[in-house]
Amino acid sequence: MNLGLAGRTALVTAATRGIGLAIARSLAAENVRVVIAARTKDDVERVAAELHGSGVPAELTGEEGCRAAVEACQGRLDILVNNLGLRAGTGWADTGVTQFEQAMAGNLYPAARLSLLALPLMRERGWGRIVVISSVFGRESGGAPAYNATKAAEISFATALAREVGRQGITVNAVAPGSILFPGGSWWRRREADPAGIAAFVERELPLGRFGTAEEVADAVTFLCSERAALINGACLPVDGGQSRSNI
Ligand SMILES: NC(=O)c1ccc[n+]([C@@H]2O[C@H](COP(=O)([O-])OP(=O)(O)OC[C@H]3O[C@@H](n4cnc5c(N)ncnc54)[C@H](OP(=O)(O)O)[C@@H]3O)[C@@H](O)[C@H]2O)c1
Repeated sequence: MNLGLAGRTALVTAATRGIGLAIARSLAAENVRVVIAARTKDDVERVAAELHGSGVPAELTGEEGCRAAVEACQGRLDILVNNLGLRAGTGWADTGVTQFEQAMAGNLYPAARLSLLALPLMRERGWGRIVVISSVFGRESGGAPAYNATKAAEISFATALAREVGRQGITVNAVAPGSILFPGGSWWRRREADPAGIAAFVERELPLGRFGTAEEVADAVTFLCSERAALINGACLPVDGGQSRSNI
């Protein structure tokens, strides 16, 4: 299948590790010019060099960093992958309004800011792809309350924006990964701390009997960004091996 992505320009946020890095690599393999953004300058430079792309060190929880990321695309932005996702609080015992505000600042707000900044550049060319990386916990209850609320809000944001911009050649979709394991990531650290507990979790909750990989999420995202996915708009695609229990 020819994905028709060669020559496009993509901005992938939080792309020096984990799912974001895998997405950036997957798009670069399709000859997309990739621009990445994350906070740590050395990591941004290393990954940008690996991908023959470019990068900008940016704190993406604020307006300034989001503007810098879009400016780094130098006037052309066809694909935006809103991958940044930050947790705040773990359960109701350590979750209050502050954690809800922090979670919004690390999930929905950067996705909304960056999308609104990217849209004029996409409209100029009459083509665009926006993907928001949500979570299975945006589709159903479970996990951390503030994080979950923002992941659900991201899906709602993607669906609402999709209806607005579809006629302009721009699609907007959400992707809902299940539990994804990669070296140094959150599940990796949890497994290091509690191998037996995580083995039981895998047995109980993951129908494939294993975690997902960042590359498996990246493949789905790259397809959604492609010419071949033109009819997919306003969708939320679970990439979770059957982990989620939601019927919708
Ligand atoms: N991992 C999972 O199992 C899982 C499951 C469902 C959904 N998701 C979602 O998938 C997305 C990626 O998850 P992940 O686990 O791959 O993430 P991760 O490992 O926590 O992300 C690390 C990346 O985020 C960057 N980053 C962190 N804080 C930042 C900030 N304030 N501004 C800019 N960049 C920042 C890091 O670079 P610096 O530290 O240098 O800034 C690095 O590039 C998130 O939206 C997450 O909610 C993940």
